[in-house]
Amino acid sequence: MLGSFYRPALLWAAASTLAVILSLTPGKSAQAETAFDFNRKLGSGINLGNALEAPKEGDWGVILQPEYFTLIKAAGFNHVRLPVSWSTHAAVDAPYTIEPAFVERVDWAIKQARDNGLKVVLNMHHYEQLEADPAAHTQRFIAMWQQIAEHLQKEPDDLAFEFYNEPARNINADKWNSLFAQTLKTVRSSNPRRCVVVGPIDWNDVGELHSLQLPNDKNLLVTIHYYAPKRFTHQGASWIGPEADKWLGTKWTGSAKETADMTADFDKAADWGRLHARPIYVGEFGAYEKADMDSRVLWTKAVRAQAQSHGFSDAYWEFCSGFGAYDPQGKKWRTPLLDALTVTTK
Ligand code: BGC
Repeated sequence: MLGSFYRPALLWAAASTLAVILSLTPGKSAQAETAFDFNRKLGSGINLGNALEAPKEGDWGVILQPEYFTLIKAAGFNHVRLPVSWSTHAAVDAPYTIEPAFVERVDWAIKQARDNGLKVVLNMHHYEQLEADPAAHTQRFIAMWQQIAEHLQKEPDDLAFEFYNEPARNINADKWNSLFAQTLKTVRSSNPRRCVVVGPIDWNDVGELHSLQLPNDKNLLVTIHYYAPKRFTHQGASWIGPEADKWLGTKWTGSAKETADMTADFDKAADWGRLHARPIYVGEFGAYEKADMDSRVLWTKAVRAQAQSHGFSDAYWEFCSGFGAYDPQGKKWRTPLLDALTVTTK
């Protein structure tokens, strides 16, 4: 047994060796630090959905109001995710110029968030033609991100870019990994350190994390979307198709089986995150209004608790539309949902 005199020296030697090993594995430790720190600050947020990602703001019944940002901050959220349909506001021919008035509108939303102390995750949403034919739309996609990135390059680091919401359909893993890497290269020339959010194909499904191949970049935050079980969260959702009506009446009670399934999904994401030294952001989760409120509340609370206990940040889908935690007509929060979302964060 060694005398106590030697222990500090041994500990110091072990720590120095570890530091040398870490410094010899480029990327990993530094990578973890920067993006993990951003993710902690992101905390809990809410999606300002069905507004700027409609073909035109207002088409889907939501026009962003200044008080939305104030309400969101006052309720205890740390950030907003801002879904944006850039492709319906950009020229179809090179250089694919984005309409200045639309850029100004997005600037306004970012400023509202900042004035209220909210961080922003700004994305591109619903570029349907890209999903149908990725090759034909690659140049336009990158050109739009080049414009967005150059325009916003002076913004403080409380703004993150998410290149594409839920890559799916004809965007397979190879295409997505390559499109993401090309776009990142372009964006990094104007925004060398900005946090960039990226998720796997198949609508950011946990089960596809394994196919995500990321460039060696220390400021990437990995996102997943959580809507399982879909027959509960998407019951009666017209955009899913006629089968969604057959799911009406599905409840979620937090049974041992339901909880174990959810835990397994979150454990899987956490394992992947640990293995690849990447932080995780649950950028969307929510249950549609056709489900009963008691089940929605239980499920929402359970997802939040999973996110928190696994060290993930999260953003509820969404503020004031079909999944809405806020009732824009009555001008009040749906208190049970808000409590489910914020009780653990306050
Ligand atoms: C889609 C929305 C949809 C939500 C839940 C989002 O990513 O953009 O249209 O309501 O997911 O399905």
